[in-house]
Amino acid sequence: MDASEELVHAARAARDRAIAPYSRFRVGAALRTTDGQIVVAGNIENASYGLTTCAERVALLKALSDGHRMFSMIAVVADTQSPTPPCGPCRQLLWEYCGDIPVVMANLISVTATHQLAELLPMPFDRRLL
Ligand code: THU
Repeated sequence: MDASEELVHAARAARDRAIAPYSRFRVGAALRTTDGQIVVAGNIENASYGLTTCAERVALLKALSDGHRMFSMIAVVADTQSPTPPCGPCRQLLWEYCGDIPVVMANLISVTATHQLAELLPMPFDRRLL
C-alpha cells in the first residue's frame, strides 16, 4: 500500500466514527505528517447546524493541538460517486497550516480525484500579504 492508499484507508475508517445525525453525510479525513504519522477525524455535527465542524477541520485542529506542524497530504472520503472537495473555510485553514499539499478525494471504493490545494484555493490570502 502506498502513502495515499494508506491515507484513504485511514480516512474511510475515520468516516465510520463521524457524528452526522442531521445531514447523514458522513465524511472522513486523514492528514499525513511529514514524519509519516496519520491523524484522522470525521465530521462532527451540532443541532445548531452552524456549529458543525467538517472532518478536515477536526483532523487539522486535532493534529495541531497534538503538536504536529508539518503535513504532506490529506485524504477526504465520502460515500459519493463524485469527489467531495474541502469546503472554502477548510481550504483556507489547510492552506495556512499545510501549504500546497495534495488533496486526495475518495469514496468507499476508489479515489475520485486528486488536486493540489493551490488549485482548489487560487490567489489565497495568507501571512505573506500582512
Ligand atoms: N463536510 C465535511 O466534513 N467535509 C467536506 O469536505 C464537506 C462537508 C460535512 C459538513 C456536514 O457535517 C456534512 O458534511 C454536510 O455538509
